[in-house]
Amino acid sequence: MIGSLCTSHVPAIGVAIDQGNTEDPYWKPLFDGYGPARDWIKEQKPDVVILVFNDHATVFDLDVIPTFAIGTADDYQPADEGWGPRPIPAVEGYGEFGWHIAESLILDEFDITVVNKMDVDHGLTVPLSITCGQPERWPFKVVPLAVNVVQYPVPTGNRCFNLGRAIRRAIDAFDKDIRVAVFGTGGMSHQLHGERAGLTNPEWDKRFLDDLTHDVDRLRQIPHIEYVRETGAEGIETVMWLIARGALGENVREVYRHYHVPASNTATGLIILEEN
Ligand code: DHB
Ligand code: FE
Repeated sequence: MIGSLCTSHVPAIGVAIDQGNTEDPYWKPLFDGYGPARDWIKEQKPDVVILVFNDHATVFDLDVIPTFAIGTADDYQPADEGWGPRPIPAVEGYGEFGWHIAESLILDEFDITVVNKMDVDHGLTVPLSITCGQPERWPFKVVPLAVNVVQYPVPTGNRCFNLGRAIRRAIDAFDKDIRVAVFGTGGMSHQLHGERAGLTNPEWDKRFLDDLTHDVDRLRQIPHIEYVRETGAEGIETVMWLIARGALGENVREVYRHYHVPASNTATGLIILEEN
């Protein structure tokens, strides 16, 4: 386990990369802050990333709403979210590792849905672009872990943290010597619709970033209503970062942080944590 990286997954960031606009004055300050995260990936060379994300009613619509679902496929195609699939490489899965995690979680009494086939939307692909740029193929395999943060009732922060702990037990029990990172994605404060569209809350976001290192027990207890009130309806996505944090031991250090407002209509954050 080499560490956890958490990042927002704003679709407009993916579009800016795909369309070559990252040096534009609007986008440059945001993308300049991604350099150290890309360096970290190049230095740490994960073989596989367990990528915690949410599907935005692309694959799982109101017909089927798994609270937690793990991908066991060997490849995933970028989804068509209405403008055609993003012009990026297919995502290489790691079915054997995905099945191992599924088995370990379920025998550990952490039941999870198994998904053998799915397309992946901006929730998964934008973090890949943020951390890897535009390679011909992605430099690591991906085991997608989808969390329902779209349709109430969504899981609690504490449940997410405990899932992260169970994922770590599964990682440690795998019998191959591979380098694993866990990504938490989504967030930070943002609301996309209604009277409060455009809401951001940098003070709240920064305290959340601080407490990933210093007081994760506080974060585990934050109720849904506080996320929604303080960070906007879609800010609840940030709860997924607690899965990535839970996969690390008690004492962690912050390796890097980048926080920027605005990107499109939202606040964006990125943080890298390693164990002490
Ligand atoms: C937007 C969509 C997202 O899923 C998200 O997490 C942030 C922003 C958007 O449409 O701008
Ligand atoms: Fe989102």
